[in-house]
Amino acid sequence: MGDASNTLPEFKQIHEMHALAAAAIAVLAAVAASRDALSLTASLGPLTTLPAATLGTARPPWSAERAIAAFERGVDRSRLRETLRNLTAVAHIAGSDADRAQAEAIQAEWAAAGLPNTHIKTYFPLLNRPVSRSLTLLAPERFEATLREPAVDGDDTSRDEEVVPTFLGYSPSGNVTAELVYANFGSPADFAALAARGIDVRGKIVLVRYGSAFRGLKVRAAELAGAAAVLIYSDPAEDGFVRGPVYPDGPWRPPLAVQRGSIMYPTFYEGDPLTPFVAATENATRLPQSEAPCLPKIPALPISYGEAKPFLAALKGHGVAAHTIANDWQGGLDIEYWTGPAGKAHLFIDNEFAVKPIWNTMAVIEGASEPDRAVILGAHRDSWVFGAADPGSATSVVIEVGRVLGEMHKRGWRPDRTIVIATWDGEEYGLIGSTEWVEDHVEILNKTAVAYINLDHGIAGDVFRAAASPSMANLVRQATKGVRDPNSGQSIYKKWNRRVGVDTPEGRVPQVQPLGSGSDYVAFLQHIGIAAVDMRFTGDEGIYHSNYDSFNWMAKFGDPTWKYHEALTLITGRVLLPLAHDRVLPIDFVPYVHELRTYAKDVAAALGGASMPVEWAGRLDASIDVFEKAARKLRKEADHLRRDDADEDNVVVDAVDGSGDGIDAGVSVLTVQGGSDDGLAGIVPQQHPKHPKHPKHPKEPKHRAVNDKLGFGERGFIDMAGIPGREWYRHVVYAPGEWSGYGAEMFPAIHEAIRRGDSAGTNKIIASVAATLRRAAGMLAA
Ligand SMILES: *[C@@H]1O[C@H](CO)[C@@H](O)[C@H](O)[C@H]1NC(C)=O
Ligand SMILES: *[C@@H]1O[C@H](CO)[C@@H](O)[C@H](O)[C@H]1NC(C)=O
Ligand SMILES: *[C@@H]1O[C@H](CO)[C@@H](O)[C@H](O)[C@H]1NC(C)=O
Ligand SMILES: *[C@@H]1O[C@H](CO)[C@@H](O)[C@H](O)[C@H]1NC(C)=O
Repeated sequence: MGDASNTLPEFKQIHEMHALAAAAIAVLAAVAASRDALSLTASLGPLTTLPAATLGTARPPWSAERAIAAFERGVDRSRLRETLRNLTAVAHIAGSDADRAQAEAIQAEWAAAGLPNTHIKTYFPLLNRPVSRSLTLLAPERFEATLREPAVDGDDTSRDEEVVPTFLGYSPSGNVTAELVYANFGSPADFAALAARGIDVRGKIVLVRYGSAFRGLKVRAAELAGAAAVLIYSDPAEDGFVRGPVYPDGPWRPPLAVQRGSIMYPTFYEGDPLTPFVAATENATRLPQSEAPCLPKIPALPISYGEAKPFLAALKGHGVAAHTIANDWQGGLDIEYWTGPAGKAHLFIDNEFAVKPIWNTMAVIEGASEPDRAVILGAHRDSWVFGAADPGSATSVVIEVGRVLGEMHKRGWRPDRTIVIATWDGEEYGLIGSTEWVEDHVEILNKTAVAYINLDHGIAGDVFRAAASPSMANLVRQATKGVRDPNSGQSIYKKWNRRVGVDTPEGRVPQVQPLGSGSDYVAFLQHIGIAAVDMRFTGDEGIYHSNYDSFNWMAKFGDPTWKYHEALTLITGRVLLPLAHDRVLPIDFVPYVHELRTYAKDVAAALGGASMPVEWAGRLDASIDVFEKAARKLRKEADHLRRDDADEDNVVVDAVDGSGDGIDAGVSVLTVQGGSDDGLAGIVPQQHPKHPKHPKHPKEPKHRAVNDKLGFGERGFIDMAGIPGREWYRHVVYAPGEWSGYGAEMFPAIHEAIRRGDSAGTNKIIASVAATLRRAAGMLAA
């Protein structure tokens, strides 16, 4: 978002809207606060019913290393492929019969494999479905859009062209006949640029292109600017022929492929639009649909670039030539883009809204020595259509992890801490299944969850990316040192560091991005402060949310050998199993310090830009100094315990360390054998030279105290008052950007106050964030 937003008159409106939303939501927040604690215990059985005190019982002789070795022997690439084939055989949009059948099939498969406590958790969110729609250009000439994605040779599932018609989640119905205006990416700055040139979008059908920000925020900006309706099209410059050969000849978007998606405004909260703060149970208290602040008020439809072209061409010669505003206003079609207004179009949308059930598949593997501490792994299962890359690739990895852990469980393996595995439903509409589950279990998760691992859109190529709480960054880096990149043969870590290495006080390490929004980690991290990580392999992909995100696309372009599915499964095991087993949790807050310092510098720059006193940022710096001291002290305590444990076991155990430049640098009890360059081929677990009688128990008081600081330290960043105007978001360091949606904004409340030009408010919020950072430091230092 550019500086232009500062001056937008719409911002006044937004804050009036905030106030309205706040009033309605306050009612539900009050319900959440008063809910009956006993009712929360129902579905997480083992986490709440087991006695907390198992101190002194013999710890089963499983280390993370042994568990990883067993896990890696169990992972089966051909099964990953077969699972994806099954998942993509039918369209399975959230709340459909096929979606439910898959939830049940996964539960049955996990139970058969040996996973204990499998169950399906049902919630009842508001969803919409397309009933009918039409789009016609009436003038200067007539063109009727087909709104269909035609069958493609060699892609069996594409034969069913309208199995899920092209539509947008939560678009209201509408019937609009109006002139057209082109508004580039549809950002507030783009609308301001049109206004500055005297181009009035009020009452018009606004044509915007995908890219740059979350689609719902394009509709929100258009709504605030007074537009009557929105068409969102996939410009070929974004993911079509401009990028390379199109499907089925290449991985990029063909002319008639359409990106479906949700346009719920993520500004205020995620999850079911009608039940912020509380779970969407069957009889939950619901907001009236008209009062849900995240629901768009104007109709919107997604279209292909093939069908957008006549509408864009109709604008030529009217308004201003798009490239005169900025170069990026000219898209990739071979026509000259103009703004309009011009032409005339008719858009009709009939969408049916209803509260419908969705189904999360869950499994709980009770921890043997710390049943009251939990690590959660999840990927969503629902898709817009067949969903091979999004989300099937990730779902298949989570199903495989569950299956292998089930087999291990049958053979006597037990994690030390409890592992919860989920395939979430309703993610595509607004991260619903995960958010409702979190809202349903706030208290128990608050007391027990040490980390959440998210996978989504897991594989669409060979480029590894991770986003995480900085406290988890080194664990992810460590995990990638032990897995080989199938294409290059080097470790994932090496390739990743070569591509996006960044210099930090701890050396050159691969960049781990901040978590914004766009997947199921949001409620965990930003609503209740559970450290989270999201991992994926990306690549050339132009089939996102279309009918062509299919098994055939994956087999031809995304991951023809399924080796990246296997690699992601192995990496996931190397993140999950240390969290479940390590006597001292592999979490570290020192990497937070460098990030916080960078974000504080950005605050200082923004203060300067807004002519507010730059020295206000000094209060953040002072708190970060305190935080740094606490984080370093905690790291020392943790390392000390690790060394003691290692001495006792007579094995070498390295501290969590994300630096170093090879797979062997931080791999502890693993021996690297074989003659390949970095020796990955023969990783086997080494015999403990002297098998410990009974390794130290994670529940021993010293371990327990340090682990609680590591496992719950992220909670310190939570301010229960939330971000002013969008109180559901409570993490003071990270929130989805008000106008980017997917991207994270750091110290969000501060930047929002600066952008409002609210000097006194900014000063107050900086003080409050600085106090929260000190409180976080206090928790680590306790
Ligand atoms: C795929 O589906 C078939 C038919 O339902 C089933 O027999 C098979 O076990 C499934 N395979 C996997 C890997 O899920
Ligand atoms: C849409 O509105 C027009 C003009 O008001 C009306 O004639 C037409 O019947 C409406 N179409 C539908 C499908 O409701
Ligand atoms: C919800 O309310 C209906 C109607 O009163 C009732 O039959 C049903 O059992 C309730 N469901 C739950 C889960 O309480
Ligand atoms: C988590 O527990 C702490 C300590 O009891 C409490 O202060 C905090 O409000 C809880 N967090 C949430 C999200 O309920």
